[in-house]
Amino acid sequence: MKKNVAVIGSSGAIGNAVSKILLDDESVDSVYNFSRSISPNTSDKENRIYIDIESEESIKDAVENIPEDIKFDLIFVATGILHNDNDVYPEKSIRDISADRFKKVLMINTVGPALIGKYFIPFLNKQNKNVFAFLSARVGSISDNKLGGWYSYRASKTALNQIVKNFSIEIKRSNPNSVFIGLQPGTVKSNLSKPFEKNVQSENLFTPDYSATKLLEVIDTVTSDDSGKLYAWNGEEIQP
Ligand SMILES: NC(=O)c1ccc[n+]([C@@H]2O[C@H](COP(=O)([O-])OP(=O)(O)OC[C@H]3O[C@@H](n4cnc5c(N)ncnc54)[C@H](OP(=O)(O)O)[C@@H]3O)[C@@H](O)[C@H]2O)c1
Repeated sequence: MKKNVAVIGSSGAIGNAVSKILLDDESVDSVYNFSRSISPNTSDKENRIYIDIESEESIKDAVENIPEDIKFDLIFVATGILHNDNDVYPEKSIRDISADRFKKVLMINTVGPALIGKYFIPFLNKQNKNVFAFLSARVGSISDNKLGGWYSYRASKTALNQIVKNFSIEIKRSNPNSVFIGLQPGTVKSNLSKPFEKNVQSENLFTPDYSATKLLEVIDTVTSDDSGKLYAWNGEEIQP
């Protein structure tokens, strides 16, 4: 059976690269791309649907546009924020913490993905292995935190990892073939990483295509025994 897949945040660097690889994959029948910016389809098997993950109404409306007979073998959540053009920026120090900025980061990195789970889990294909993958980050690991800083981003990804674990526990009974995982994509050239790429050696700064290829390899490899865990682009498990 050919696969149906969904990419939430398909306008982002990594989301777009994942979507393109899936569009070129002959084992994939249809790709549903969800994002705030809607441009014309590039392929017959592509479907584009508007979504704003900061709005529960928008997520509800988005799933209403999925045909009733579609079940997804893979749902890939590629949304996220580290900084924006307004005032969100990773905090260097306690004095940089602001309630409004913190709430914005939590809304996009934690609450949005939790709501995506709420509305998209019913669309998983229970008949065979089905994967719900969320782009997280190594900095969400408490045991790996050596540098401090980035309060809201770190906390939002730590909480996301907890939500992925919770999904894996709750859904295991009704959908034993499901695999819920968090993914660390490496440091990837994108709008999100741009202000920080000068701190990264060039061989450690991945293209979105490279990261997406490696992440899809991880997705191919994981089994339901791995559900609830966080994996890096190279398949290494990252401890909470
Ligand atoms: N790049 C890295 O080095 C790196 C490292 C570790 C983890 N990650 C994680 O990987 C994920 C993707 O990052 P990226 O590098 O591909 O960044 P990116 O190019 O900035 O993509 C971010 C995506 O999130 C979407 N988004 C933000 N707010 C949204 C909202 N309210 N509703 C719908 N979509 C929204 C953006 O959509 P718009 O185009 O509509 O704004 C965009 O598609 C993030 O979760 C990030 O934390 C990235």
